[in-house]
Amino acid sequence: MTHVELTLGAPASGGGFVARGDDGRVYFVRHGLPGERVRAVVTEEHAKWARADAIEILEASGERVDPPCEFAGPGKCGGCDYQHASRSSQLALKTQLLQEQLRRIGKFDLDVKVEDVESPNQGLGTRTRLRFGVSPTGQLGMRRHGSHDLIPTPTCLLGVSPLQETMTKTSLWDESDDVLIIALPQSDSVEVRRVMFTEDEHDLIDEEGDSDLSDTDLQETHVGQMSFRVSASSFWQIHEQAPEILVQEVLQGLQLSAGDHVMDLYCGAGLFTKFIADRVGPFGSVIGIESSQSAVEDATRNLVEYPWTYIQHASVNKRSIAHASPLSTHAVLDPPRSGNDRSALLALNDLEHLRRIVSVSCDPATFARDLRILVDLGWEIVSLRAFDLFPMTEHLECTAVLGRSIAH
Ligand SMILES: C[S@@+](CC[C@H](N)C(=O)[O-])C[C@H]1O[C@@H](n2cnc3c(N)ncnc32)[C@H](O)[C@@H]1O
Repeated sequence: MTHVELTLGAPASGGGFVARGDDGRVYFVRHGLPGERVRAVVTEEHAKWARADAIEILEASGERVDPPCEFAGPGKCGGCDYQHASRSSQLALKTQLLQEQLRRIGKFDLDVKVEDVESPNQGLGTRTRLRFGVSPTGQLGMRRHGSHDLIPTPTCLLGVSPLQETMTKTSLWDESDDVLIIALPQSDSVEVRRVMFTEDEHDLIDEEGDSDLSDTDLQETHVGQMSFRVSASSFWQIHEQAPEILVQEVLQGLQLSAGDHVMDLYCGAGLFTKFIADRVGPFGSVIGIESSQSAVEDATRNLVEYPWTYIQHASVNKRSIAHASPLSTHAVLDPPRSGNDRSALLALNDLEHLRRIVSVSCDPATFARDLRILVDLGWEIVSLRAFDLFPMTEHLECTAVLGRSIAH
């Protein structure tokens, strides 16, 4: 194994920090912090760059803390990137990453800060879904960073407490490819379900995956006054506070009136759709477009009291947008990490009554790319915010409100 000594600089996407080696190569080093001098083991090598893990901290940053999780660290569970960084520095690092992506990819120079989400335990205990592998001997495990190796992790501090209790109470799990453990917040109790994935259903929880899970796999959850039933195989926001925070952002950004016509693109199980339907009322309309069969079924069921909504089972693209509703006045975009197709954004721009777009994204790079496309088409960024809905990791959630510029 090759070892190097490095001084670390700015955060890079992938959870590491940039350093220049004595050999002239650029290193991306995990488990360090900006300004630290570290001894690192090289984990991946290329002619001009390499990846490494900091295994000894020679000069520590004042922002370094003991990781709360015993499974975090070099060579251990790859789920978290920033367990060793103070909470305030996690936010500062994500802010730096976001501003850099907006500048480099979107050509936007914006002073946006990643906002903390109040949580009693420094960001721990907030995830309502956790996915584990199961070892041949029936133990839960997470994957090592950048590898399929399973690291035994009998618990995960990121999970809401009912998830952690389930993990500690259950000592042996049925052997399967993966296990998804879900505990959606409910009004008066929290229910925990385990879903086992067999070999042929390996892709079941991928964002675009479909499933044939039966109704018994539905969990009920509440967001404000609204209730939702969500299948294990449908997308649902993972941070326990994410649904409320994002619904508020979407509603505030759209500024709806009764009678408006809205497109909720990538609508999942109908989270935003239901609140929007309530705002626009029976003289308005909402069309949700979603590609996952189980999410379409959930959304249709969740919206049954709002007959002025329609959930279309389709991919968001030029054709589905053009056919959805030529009268649309507002649109919400909440795509997976890969972002929007350029042609879909062009089709959206062609809707002549469209006056507001709210864009929600968990990937700053594709978010910045798509904002640039819209701004070049004549849209103006009215506001842009970012939230730390993925504490201890490099990930974050962004929202932007766009309006037609006056010149349009
Ligand atoms: C980030 S989630 C957002 C869901 C919803 N807005 C929410 O907050 O619960 C993205 C959704 O887009 C769906 N999806 C992924 N690719 C799609 C595509 N090309 N067309 C339509 N829906 C897609 C996924 O199944 C998932 O439900």
